[in-house]
Amino acid sequence: MRLDIDKLRAYYADAPDDLSLSDIDLDRIPAHVSIIMDGNGRWATARGLDRSRGHVAGVDALREAVTTSVRLGLDALSVYAFSTENWRRPKREVDLLMHLFATTLVKELPLFHQENVRLRFLGDLTALPEKTRTVFQRGLDETADHTGMTFALAVNYGSRAELARAARELAADVAAGKIAPEDVDEEAVAAHLYTAGLPDPDLLIRTSGEMRLSNYLLWQLAYTEFYVTPTLWPDFGRWDFLRAVAAFQGRSRRYGGVVSS
Ligand code: IPE
Ligand code: IPE
Ligand code: MG
Repeated sequence: MRLDIDKLRAYYADAPDDLSLSDIDLDRIPAHVSIIMDGNGRWATARGLDRSRGHVAGVDALREAVTTSVRLGLDALSVYAFSTENWRRPKREVDLLMHLFATTLVKELPLFHQENVRLRFLGDLTALPEKTRTVFQRGLDETADHTGMTFALAVNYGSRAELARAARELAADVAAGKIAPEDVDEEAVAAHLYTAGLPDPDLLIRTSGEMRLSNYLLWQLAYTEFYVTPTLWPDFGRWDFLRAVAAFQGRSRRYGGVVSS
């Protein structure tokens, strides 16, 4: 994706002591960054606040991550917002999150227009409250012809459910005689995932220090570089993002082969 160097410099003007924009190789920015946005609850609890306040603060961090990704010229940013297991949380928290998704999306649509960002969703949206679904559809319709970065929001997303669904769809195609069993190859599976058409993430960031995937993109992360930071999601800002990119650029990606010099 194109990168506007002047805008990027202005955005990263206020450098901390340990990092500056010149530490980054602008020709080797990851194309697709994915984030497991974790730690909202702990952020709130540490301040004596209700967990919901952590989710509200998390929205500000997400807005910054979207803007940062656009400034860095990413092709895609995907984020894990609600897992198929998150329904296990108290109803009050689930309701708040569903409400927050809807209101936030409406509020942020001007940003998507301004930055030419195209929205998509990963996950089974049929289980969401109608109001949330309606707003999501509006977001899809209004950004469908945007040609800039893709922003993928994973809501009611679970990797195992996604893979089971892909297997079901492929089995139905075989049963209907549309394809032969031999046609079920890696490409066919990938085409039946929610991420169809998106490149696999180059970099996965998880905040709040947890070293697990929590059922996120099990197939797509096969060769992704992982970056885990103890920073809680609401505190994760543009410089933390750049730190993750710097770490990514220090990695040697081999894809099972040998290091190329
Ligand atoms: C991530 O923060 C947001 C969602 C899962 C919706 P958490 O709510 O998981 O925060 P912690 O992990 O309890 O601190
Ligand atoms: C993963 O975080 C899901 C999202 C960030 C949406 P969780 O907080 O649900 O994960 P666990 O329960 O700690 O594994
Ligand atoms: Mg969590």
